[in-house]
Amino acid sequence: MRTQVGIVGAGPAGLLLSHLLHLHGIESVVLESHSRAYVEARIRAGVLEHPVEKLLNESGVGARMRELGLPHEGISLRTGGRDHRIDLKALTGQGIMVYSQHQIVRDLIARRLADGGDIRFDAAAVALCDVATDAPSIVYQKDGKQHRLDCDVIAGCDGFHGIARDTIPASVRQSFDREYPFGWLGILADVAPSSHEVVYASHDRGFALLSMRSPSVSRLYLQCEPEEDLAAWSDDRIWSELSTRLACDGFTLRDGPITQRGVTPMRSFVVEPMQYGRLFLVGDAAHIVPPTGAKGLNLAAADVAVLTRALTAWFRTGATEHLARYGETCLRRVWKAQRFSWWMTSLLHRFSSHTPFERRVQQAELDALFGSVAASTALAENYVGLPLILS
Ligand code: APR
Ligand code: PHB
Repeated sequence: MRTQVGIVGAGPAGLLLSHLLHLHGIESVVLESHSRAYVEARIRAGVLEHPVEKLLNESGVGARMRELGLPHEGISLRTGGRDHRIDLKALTGQGIMVYSQHQIVRDLIARRLADGGDIRFDAAAVALCDVATDAPSIVYQKDGKQHRLDCDVIAGCDGFHGIARDTIPASVRQSFDREYPFGWLGILADVAPSSHEVVYASHDRGFALLSMRSPSVSRLYLQCEPEEDLAAWSDDRIWSELSTRLACDGFTLRDGPITQRGVTPMRSFVVEPMQYGRLFLVGDAAHIVPPTGAKGLNLAAADVAVLTRALTAWFRTGATEHLARYGETCLRRVWKAQRFSWWMTSLLHRFSSHTPFERRVQQAELDALFGSVAASTALAENYVGLPLILS
């Protein structure tokens, strides 16, 4: 079996890449180790930057997002029982779209299959071969048998725990890693959101985040230990802690049935280079950000935009400039998002290692932000999203 672009992973990166390549007349095959039901049910991020919302609409997969998504014009930072609203729209002219990642995955799968796309579920890539030659291939397992897919190019869209990144020789690749001394305990709850916009709370007991998925489904998080034992958290304890950390004049946190819960560790990670021969790393396969800045999904989409431009030029005209500079182009945006995500995380979380001086400086950083249009504008510009391709 042969295709032009072999794509490992049917997450947002792999599916969006396959869709955009199809629109440019480029054939691909997507290999996904899990089932369709599994990937469509996986609850992850929920905030789309304006450029990503635009990309989904312009590429014809935005209909359900326009119907079900929640356009927001601002976010709030809450500390000391007071709200400080960052008016994204007024400061940047743009807002964000709150639309669940698993819905985007559903939309992309449906569109690819409607367009005759080749997505192979329960198909785990076990090796990426000859990536340094002009005849790479993917060996994968499906239905108990081993198969080989010959490609012109391989896109490693297989996430942080995939095999693509390690296909780049250790002598060639360099990793940049930072683990944070906390995680997020996240819940989905069948209760109307207690705020019409996303609220980030910085409290002495720790960070908390109020988000949402629909007018009747809330998404909330609270800072916890990296290896927090979920069994120690009853529903009542979760709601009580969230209520304490999100407390604010005139605010009441509504609670309700918790339908999903989980603990996510927090890390910043980048691997360089993001390409090697005919292998190109995309999304979480190449970088991980702490979710405080809501950048993970959006960075994956930006990588896809860069790779689509490069592969379209190469397949159509043989031009290699964009392809040769794929990783360099992506990393300009990746590192800006890493900085922003690290800054938001450092600003809003409680660090047990902080000295009293460091705690005061952290509080002063928040106060300085609230008192400065320039500082608030810088936050807003990064939050709504930089251009997808930074030249
Ligand atoms: N073979 C086939 N598929 C694989 C393999 C493999 N060896 N290893 C991993 N996969 C699949 C996973 O099952 C997953 O569906 O690759 C997909 C990777 O998807 P994501 O982890 O969602 O990564 P990405 O598409 O880059 O999206 C990044 O999604 O996970 C969030 O926080 C992340 O918001 C960010 C966004
Ligand atoms: C979410 O809605 O899941 C969400 C929102 C904002 C973040 C992270 C996650 O920073």
